[in-house]
Amino acid sequence: MLDIYTLGEEVLREQCSDIKEFDEALKMLSDAMLDTLEEADGIGLAGPQVGVPKNIFVIHIRDEKPLVFVNPSITATSMETGVYEEGCLSIPGVYHDVVRPLRVTVQAQDVTGKPFTIEADGILARCIQHEYDHLSGKLYIDRLDEKEKEKVIRAYEKKNRAARKRKARV
Ligand code: NI
Repeated sequence: MLDIYTLGEEVLREQCSDIKEFDEALKMLSDAMLDTLEEADGIGLAGPQVGVPKNIFVIHIRDEKPLVFVNPSITATSMETGVYEEGCLSIPGVYHDVVRPLRVTVQAQDVTGKPFTIEADGILARCIQHEYDHLSGKLYIDRLDEKEKEKVIRAYEKKNRAARKRKARV
């Protein structure tokens, strides 16, 4: 299992670089990311969240097949937007509504380097955009206005302190 980096860690703010080698190490990384995602009970996880500032993210929506996106690029987004409450494994325990396009087209490579295109809507479109943001060092809270962002960060820090206290008592 991989460690998940949380808010405040520098790696979450890095601009990720492309993956050039489609080798066994990449396969191991994507498998480990999918295992970590499942363990954390999330639906998406991006490279920087496990300390790897590379253009890769994985998505596993319940009852769907797990997806690995290497060197992804969002090539089209719908004009129509929607609101959905997002969370992030790097900002655990807090959630906030975020406005995003409802549909996206993404081009990427799979773990063997084979290119594919997905036209997504619903939760998959939402998740792709959230994970794609991670690859340019962006978190969902950066899409909120300053006041809302502050509120989410304060709520997260408060939860974090409480969690640390609980741990200290054990
Ligand atoms: Ni996230």
